[in-house]
Amino acid sequence: MDTRNPRHLLLQITTSLRHYLESLQEEGVTGLPVASQQKPPASLDMGARQGRVQESELPKQEAPAATAAQPPRSSSASKAPLRAPQPLLSQTGDLFFSPPVHAAQTLEELRAQMGDCQRCKLCRGRTHIVFGVGNPRAELVFVGEAPGRDEDLRGEPFVGRAGQLLTEIITKGMKMRREDVYITNVVKCRPPENRNPEPDEIAACEPFLVKQLELIRPRIIVALGTFAAQTLLKSKTPISRLRGIWHSYQGIKLMPTLHPAYLLRNPQDKRLVWQDIQAVLRDMGRL
Ligand code: URA
Repeated sequence: MDTRNPRHLLLQITTSLRHYLESLQEEGVTGLPVASQQKPPASLDMGARQGRVQESELPKQEAPAATAAQPPRSSSASKAPLRAPQPLLSQTGDLFFSPPVHAAQTLEELRAQMGDCQRCKLCRGRTHIVFGVGNPRAELVFVGEAPGRDEDLRGEPFVGRAGQLLTEIITKGMKMRREDVYITNVVKCRPPENRNPEPDEIAACEPFLVKQLELIRPRIIVALGTFAAQTLLKSKTPISRLRGIWHSYQGIKLMPTLHPAYLLRNPQDKRLVWQDIQAVLRDMGRL
C-alpha cells in the first residue's frame, strides 16, 4: 500500500480504526461517547482521548441508552456533557458498510455492496472475490472455509480438487445438480498460501455470510469443516465432535461435516461424510 496515495492512506486509516473498534468490541465495549460542543469534565475528557471509557465513568442517564432505532432524547442530551453511548456497530456488525449490508434485498445487491472489498488484509493477495454460486432460492446451502488457488483464479467456490469431490458428493451422492444448491465460504478471498483464515478476516467477512443465508433462507445448511461449523455455531468444539449431529443456525437446520480437502488426505473418513449426507437426504425426503 502506497501511503503517499491519499486513497490508500484513507484506506489504511479506516482499516486500522476498524481493527481498533473490533478489538474494543471483543473486550465488551458496546458504545463510544461522542464529545459535545461543551468541554467535558477533565476525567471524561481523558477517557475519551484514550478511547476507553468505563461505563462507570459515564454520566448516569435517566433514559435508556440510545439505539440506532431510538435516538437519545434531546432533554437529557442537552444536559449531559457527553451523549449516551451509541451502538458501536450496525445490526450486521460493521461500521463501514455503506449502505449497510442489512439493506440488501438480493444476493446481487449484497455482492454490489461488497464492491472491490478492502475490509481486511486478504484483499492484497486476491485475484477475485469468491462470493458464492448457485440457486438463490436453494433449499440446501454448503458453506466452506475460504477460496483456494483455483477458486481465486476462477472467482467460483469449490472448483479445485476439493471442489471436484464436493461436486461428486452433490451429483453422485445426493443426485442433485450443483446449480440446485448454493455454495459459498466463510471468507470470500483466498488466504495466502492457503493458510487458515484469521479471526479479523472472518469477522470482516461474516456479515456477508450472515446476510447471504438470511436472503437465501435455506432449509438446511451443510457446514464443511472446522471454520464453517465453528463460525456459524459460534463454537470452539472440534469438528470431530460437531459433525453428524443436527444443530440450529438462526432456526435453520445445520449439519456440520468434514471438509472435502480433509477427505482428500484422509479418504478412510469418507464414510463419515456419507453418513452425514445421508442424514441430510433423509431430512429432505430424498432417501
Ligand atoms: N476450500 C474451501 O473451503 N472453499 C473453496 O471454495 C475451496 C476449497
